[in-house]
Amino acid sequence: MAQLTGQVAFITGASSGIGEAVARRLATEGVQLMLADIDDARGEALAAELGAGYLHTDTSSLEDNEALVAATLARYGRLDLAFLNAGISSGCGIGEDFDLATYRRAMGVNLDGVVFGAHAALEALKANGGGQLIATASMAGLVAVPFDPFYAANKHAVVGLVRSLGVTLDPKDNIRANALCPSFADTNIIKPIKGFLEDTKFPILEVSDVVDAFMAIATGTGTGQCHFVVVGRPSEPFQFRNAPGPVLS
Ligand SMILES: NC(=O)c1ccc[n+]([C@@H]2O[C@H](COP(=O)([O-])OP(=O)(O)OC[C@H]3O[C@@H](n4cnc5c(N)ncnc54)[C@H](O)[C@@H]3O)[C@@H](O)[C@H]2O)c1
Repeated sequence: MAQLTGQVAFITGASSGIGEAVARRLATEGVQLMLADIDDARGEALAAELGAGYLHTDTSSLEDNEALVAATLARYGRLDLAFLNAGISSGCGIGEDFDLATYRRAMGVNLDGVVFGAHAALEALKANGGGQLIATASMAGLVAVPFDPFYAANKHAVVGLVRSLGVTLDPKDNIRANALCPSFADTNIIKPIKGFLEDTKFPILEVSDVVDAFMAIATGTGTGQCHFVVVGRPSEPFQFRNAPGPVLS
């Protein structure tokens, strides 16, 4: 992992779960960190423990994402890696349970958050002579999700965005963009359905498995790839079937 030592990364959704675990792993690799979340108490405590910076950042706000990049540059003078990780479950469905504000919030955090974070980070990564974007999508970005279709919709959108950035970013800028696509992992986000998953014997990932997959992406060479992380199989880029007809890439 020597190639990450001394690099600068920011992490959204860093106060718990996957973001926190990645922050802890990157800190042990000597990466300088700026942590971002809306849970300031946990985020500030983690930052103090790791010697990192912390900024209150709501990923659904473009201004907050721009402030996060500015704060990272002010503290460290460069940016190598943007981990666009914050996410929430949708909290509503398509029928009588539809709620416009809840729907907008889910799309704002999970999709706008990745778009705004990538947009805000791009010039800093270019100025750095290169770097990488890693977005946390989900297996929900690759398969149907019967109990949360809007979560599947915004995670599929992140997958489409990352695949497209892989062929959009100019190779001379030396910026890679990839997605992390975990199945259910043992964090706060699955608390409401953890009993159901256990009852149906659905295998749940250890968070460390997701961190290992993140590290493989971060230290790899690929771009435009969406790495699945499931129990019982090594993580690797999902191989999408060829679509019919001419394609642009
Ligand atoms: N745990 C899983 O089963 C699983 C599976 C696939 C994908 N994911 C994705 O992993 C990412 C991390 O989730 P997790 O599993 O660590 O859950 P988590 O709930 O433990 O962590 C999510 C973090 O995001 C923060 N957050 C929520 N809204 C935010 C906002 N608007 N701006 C900034 N931060 C915000 C929360 O405060 C929390 O610290 C999410 O994108 C989630 O969709 C999780």
